[in-house]
Amino acid sequence: MVDETRPGINVNFGALTKADVSRAAEEFRLGVQALTQLDPRRLSLAQMHGKMFLQFIESILRQIDPNPEAVSSAIMVPSEPDPGKDPKIFLLNVWNLRAGQWARIESRATYSLTMESLLYHMRFQSATKPERWASLGAGPGLYEAYLGVFFQEQHGGRVRITCVDYAPEMTTFNKKVIAAAGVERNIEAKTGDMTSLRYPNGTFDQIICNNSLQWVPEWQRAISEMARVINPNGLGRLYLVIHNNPMTIKKVETGETIEIGDVNSGDVLDTLEANRFAIVSARQFVTPLGIGQLGRMTDRLMIIAEHTPRGRFESWRDSIPTGSLTLRDSS
Ligand SMILES: C[S@@+](CC[C@H](N)C(=O)[O-])C[C@H]1O[C@@H](n2cnc3c(N)ncnc32)[C@H](O)[C@@H]1O
Repeated sequence: MVDETRPGINVNFGALTKADVSRAAEEFRLGVQALTQLDPRRLSLAQMHGKMFLQFIESILRQIDPNPEAVSSAIMVPSEPDPGKDPKIFLLNVWNLRAGQWARIESRATYSLTMESLLYHMRFQSATKPERWASLGAGPGLYEAYLGVFFQEQHGGRVRITCVDYAPEMTTFNKKVIAAAGVERNIEAKTGDMTSLRYPNGTFDQIICNNSLQWVPEWQRAISEMARVINPNGLGRLYLVIHNNPMTIKKVETGETIEIGDVNSGDVLDTLEANRFAIVSARQFVTPLGIGQLGRMTDRLMIIAEHTPRGRFESWRDSIPTGSLTLRDSS
C-alpha cells in the first residue's frame, strides 16, 4: 500500500496483522447478526439510500471533474512546506492538498454503510419545525449534499446544515459539491475549527461529525464545543462516527513519525458523558479487508448521543446502549 519510492509524507493507517483480519471477520459476523435486531423496515429504507448515495457521489464527482487524476494508493503529500512536528498544522496541510481527492480515497463500502447508519438513526423534533444542523469536519460535504436533497424532498427543506471544515481547500471543494447537487438553499460550507467554533451557544439543533474526530489532536475540546453549540431545548442529537485504529503519519524520507488518531471508543463515550451527552446507541460497522479505504478494512463506530443538559442519565458503562454491537474498550 505504501509507495516508498515517492518522497513525501505518507499517512499510514497502521499495518494489519493476521489477528486484525480475523478479528474483523469475527466482528463482521457479529455485526450481521446484530443487524437483524434492528427495525427491518427502517433498515431496508436506509439501505436503499446507502446504495443510491453511491450513484449520487459518482454523478456529483463527474460533474465537478470529468477527467480525474488517478488516486495514489497512499495519502502522499509533498514534504514542502515542512509541517514540522505540530500534528495540527501537519494535518491541515494534508487535508488542503488532498481536498480534491478525498472523495475518491474513501471506500464506497464505507460511504454506503455510513449513509445507511445515518438515515437509520436520524430523528427530527417535529414534522414542521425548522431545524439547523452542523456537520463538523465535513470535508467534501457529500453526505450533507445528499441529505440536502433528501431534506428538500422529505421535509420541505426545513432542515439546514452548516458544514464546517478547518481546511479552506475542503470548503472550496464542498461549495462545488453543493452547487453540483443544487442544494444551496439548505446546505452551506464554512471554514472553521471544531475545537473553537465561531457560533453562539445553542446554535444547532443536531450535529453530525463523521470520520473526523479521530483526526483532531484536541478532540476533547471539540466535544466540549459540540456541547456548547447544541441547542439545549431541541432534540440535541449527535451523530458521531469515529474509527478505532490509531494512525501514524510518517515522512517517507526521514522515517519521522507523528502519532495521531489515538482515540478509543471508551474514552470518547466517557468524554461525551462528561459533556452531558447521554449515549443512545453505538453501532460498529466492519467490512472485511479489501473493501475498506485504500483496500483496508472499515472499522468504524457510529455513536448516537443526546445532549441532556439537566437531570441524571444512565451511563453507557452501566447499560448496554440499544442497538449496540461490539465496543472496544481501552482496558
Ligand atoms: C477523513 S475527513 C472526513 C470528511 C467527511 N466528514 C467525510 O466523511 O467524507 C476528515 C476531515 O476533518 C477535517 N478536520 C480535521 N481537523 C479539523 C478541525 N479541528 N476542525 C474542523 N475540521 C477538521 C479535515 O480537514 C477533513 O476534511
